[in-house]
Amino acid sequence: MKRISLTQHLIEEQRLHNTIPAELRLLIEVVARACKTISHAVGKGALGEVLGTSEAESENVQGEIQKKLDIISNDILLQANEWGGHLAAMASEEMETIHPIPNRYPMGEYLLLFDPLDGSSNIDVNVSIGTIFSVLKAPHGMTVPTEAAFLQPGSQQVAAGYAVYGPQTVLVLTTGNGVQSFTLDREMGSWVMTQKEAKIPEDTKEYAINASNARHWYAPVKRYVDEMQAGKTGPRGKDFNMRWIASMVADVHRILTRGGVFMYPADARDPDKPGKLRLMYEANPMAFIVEQAGGAATDGKQRILDIQPEKLHQRVPVFLGSKNEVDLVTSYHRDA
Ligand code: AHG
Ligand code: MN
Ligand code: MN
Repeated sequence: MKRISLTQHLIEEQRLHNTIPAELRLLIEVVARACKTISHAVGKGALGEVLGTSEAESENVQGEIQKKLDIISNDILLQANEWGGHLAAMASEEMETIHPIPNRYPMGEYLLLFDPLDGSSNIDVNVSIGTIFSVLKAPHGMTVPTEAAFLQPGSQQVAAGYAVYGPQTVLVLTTGNGVQSFTLDREMGSWVMTQKEAKIPEDTKEYAINASNARHWYAPVKRYVDEMQAGKTGPRGKDFNMRWIASMVADVHRILTRGGVFMYPADARDPDKPGKLRLMYEANPMAFIVEQAGGAATDGKQRILDIQPEKLHQRVPVFLGSKNEVDLVTSYHRDA
């Protein structure tokens, strides 16, 4: 097999499509390197004393107890990306507000957002977790980065990706020209392309949702799931299977590999909390990747990538994956 490295891929993309200028390439390479470091920390587990909650028992801005690895991964990404001169500022699920590049370093024209460690509840039980990132361009002429600079719809992303730390560490990337996957060669320490163009099948028999919330679901979600569960003799006329890993990265990775539909809907528990997942760190980058692989992603009403963000830590309902299924569950919301 001819080995194509991440760097070679990025350079060739630039030659062919002119979509990855040198600064953006550096940015992606630095993020990928940080993911390698996180993967290493994850792999050490108890030996590296990285499991469990943080000593300070600190909470993040959304009131979630931070795990040690949430904080370690956040620090790795911040440190790796500060000095390269390619960024103006960063924003993270684990930080209350934005992190401008310190004065001692040159300021670049990109904004980086990340969920440093996705699937925190799976860290201590040795189940796949990941890192999700999204790249925007800073608004033209911006001199002092503000939160407002980040509030751009997902359609403005110039790159997005995730690393999944599972039996293999895999980096999945889009710069708007399809979706490519790179597997970490642990001996060589390099990212090697292992999929040139991911394609999500339009149809599927597999869905992912946290069914313990069923009693809180709104009617369209209940209808959609009921109909799938009715199987062959129900209105859908086929049997469905269910998977829920509780790491969005791992669930999306399965869907990218063999299709499926992933849902984290809003529900009746707390009208001020529209779903669980965060628009800027989870929904937008995953929606970009899924659409680039031929799938679809909505909040039940509209395309996720069209949502105009109002605040950095905003939550949104998420329906993504195989196109025909996402279209169907979205149409049930429109009917209601
Ligand atoms: P995070 O660990 O970054 O807070 O994200 C967890 C998210 C997502 O990865 C996953 O799909 C979902 O929360 C799991 O939610 P449940 O605990 O309701 O299953
Ligand atoms: Mn997450
Ligand atoms: Mn997280």
